[in-house]
Amino acid sequence: MRTPADLAATVYAPPPAAAPWRLAELYAPAAARFYRYGRHALADAFRAAGTGPVLLPGFFCREVLASADEPRLFYTVGPDLQPDLDSAEWPQARAVLAVDYFGFPCDLEPFRAYARRTGAAIIEDACHALFSRDEDGRLLGTRADFGALSPRKTLPLADGGVLLAPDPARVAALPPAPAAGGTGTTRSGLKAAARPLLAAAGARTARALLEALRAAKGFDWRDRLGREGSEDEALGDPAPGVALAGPIACGDEAGERSRRRALYELCAATAKELGLAPVFPSLPGGVVPYAFAFHAAPSAADAAYAAFRRLGLSVLPWPDLPAAVRAGAPAHYRDVYLAHFLW
Ligand SMILES: Cc1ncc(COP(=O)(O)O)c(C=O)c1O
Repeated sequence: MRTPADLAATVYAPPPAAAPWRLAELYAPAAARFYRYGRHALADAFRAAGTGPVLLPGFFCREVLASADEPRLFYTVGPDLQPDLDSAEWPQARAVLAVDYFGFPCDLEPFRAYARRTGAAIIEDACHALFSRDEDGRLLGTRADFGALSPRKTLPLADGGVLLAPDPARVAALPPAPAAGGTGTTRSGLKAAARPLLAAAGARTARALLEALRAAKGFDWRDRLGREGSEDEALGDPAPGVALAGPIACGDEAGERSRRRALYELCAATAKELGLAPVFPSLPGGVVPYAFAFHAAPSAADAAYAAFRRLGLSVLPWPDLPAAVRAGAPAHYRDVYLAHFLW
């Protein structure tokens, strides 16, 4: 195992220069349509799946719920974040969302059994999983009827929304994808413009700036990122800028795979020292992790925050649960934290 000092160099190194590559080519033969955010891609996937209720995991961020109209139904997951109830018991819906949390491939078998029984479309939420692959080498987001990616979560890109359709006929009924060149809202436009600048400043500086910004707004690190009312807020302009359709040079599959896996190793060793339980017991070969996810009791969270901060990483609790789930949520929905890798 590499030492923390060796790995720290990887953490703070600027992203390795990459030969330009194209997202649509990497994910071919699935058809790729581009949007501003992953939630816009999810919204079109739900639209393409027809009308009726949608079935979502209760362990999910409320901010993204607005991508699916009501009625929204929820299935439960266990501490390993896999469904913990036989899918034969799940209610009827037109579409079911399977989430590759933090870049780890979810087991699609229960979803496939559900789809056979109900005819529902399966949407694979791979918004945390750019470049991640399952044990058969398949890119996450291409394993179901529809997939969604959010590349801005992995690379310092302005845009973060891709709808993938392994069978392009499944999106044929949708209106054309939004034309590139959108600027979004002032807020999202500013955030998008800041990303490449922050990345150029280096991960440690970027993290410090982001934390200072949040503190200036009165947030504590323990605050969850969603805003009250965000479940019902309109999603805003779905038009992407130009980043996703063109060649991408700010990071590539091989570079992010080794950088993020090294970071994960470093976090796993740190968590072990602190006695924290990782959400996933191991790091399968194809995974390009979005973050290091761990369970922590409230009494252990401050020490975890301080230890990961020394490595230059922010810690945040995840997710901001949907209002319909929050009150009765089991303990393992409330004790998950991420050591976030930024880009
Ligand atoms: C699991 C999951 N799915 C989808 C999304 C939506 O991605 P975006 O922020 O690009 O809309 C997020 C982001 O918050 C997420 O955490």
